[in-house]
Amino acid sequence: MPLDQYRRDIHYLRISLTDACNLRCVYCMPEHMTFRPRHELLSDDELRRLITLFGRLGFKKIRFTGGEPTLRPALVDLVRHATTTAGIANVGLTTNGVLLDQLAQPLRDAGLTSVNISLDSLDEAKFRHLTRWGNLRDVQAGLAAAARAGLRVKLNAVVCRGVNDGADVVELARLTLERDWQVRFIEQMPFGNNAAFQTRGVVHETELLGVLRAAFGPLELIDGGRLDGEARLYRLPGARGAIGFISPVSQPFCADCNRVRLTADGVLRLCLLRDNEVNLLTLLRTGASDDDLEACVREAIHHKPWGHGLAQHVVPASRGMSEIGG
Ligand code: 5AD
Ligand code: SF4
Repeated sequence: MPLDQYRRDIHYLRISLTDACNLRCVYCMPEHMTFRPRHELLSDDELRRLITLFGRLGFKKIRFTGGEPTLRPALVDLVRHATTTAGIANVGLTTNGVLLDQLAQPLRDAGLTSVNISLDSLDEAKFRHLTRWGNLRDVQAGLAAAARAGLRVKLNAVVCRGVNDGADVVELARLTLERDWQVRFIEQMPFGNNAAFQTRGVVHETELLGVLRAAFGPLELIDGGRLDGEARLYRLPGARGAIGFISPVSQPFCADCNRVRLTADGVLRLCLLRDNEVNLLTLLRTGASDDDLEACVREAIHHKPWGHGLAQHVVPASRGMSEIGG
């Protein structure tokens, strides 16, 4: 199992399958985007090779992200490859849910067991505003299909001040009363030239806890506050599901970080919020052996940065969220 120089056990790989998306969430992308041409992205074969290699290295968990991973034609095959790769015990998918209606069952059949769906508001007009042109009903159909297919569901909402930090948070949280879902609220993180907007808009966990307490009464802390992945979990009074807070800004969890990221253009990104990267695509395309690749990945992981520098106003500059995959 790869350890970094701080003895963190790195065994979770997030793979961005494309930088493209069928939505344009205001906190994530400008409306007019140029996406990378296909030949600059890892091919399906290159991805399969890397997934097998990371399994051999001791990685246990893979999550497919984007952009929007359901735009990748081979998604189901890649999920099947990951779920049948030796060593990989857990495969996840983070999606905006727009195309999930048709894909949920094939993904389940390929061995996927859970899905994280990004949904920032249950109000149709607000959802459209936040995503610039998204249709809430597509996501609701995707959610229903995921539930029908027996996929465990987590909802992710990025909270933006003045946009969805009040009634929307309450309505999303209310879903957990009846359903065994995790609804998770994410503190908005700053990236590149959108950083000022994102920093102004961030809403901290303590503030949201206050909003939920006022609406539902006291929340019960689950597991004494021990993180489930990156989320601290609570339960609303009498609820079946759980509320999670992912609070990288106000309560960084870098000391427990267990992950690295592979971008769609084949770069190993060692920290979401730092620009340190190692190019695997070039190695792959210049005939590197598996041993060469493995040595390169081990060396990169050894040098994974300790943590982000948001408190020191260090903001990643080279890529936005949609190019890294969250
Ligand atoms: N800060 C926090 N989360 C973000 N996401 C996109 N941009 C940001 C940001 N700036 C979320 C998406 C999705 C996940 C992949 O990352 O909403 O849930
Ligand atoms: Fe697309 Fe996700 Fe970015 Fe929204 S947050 S534009 S769904 S990649």
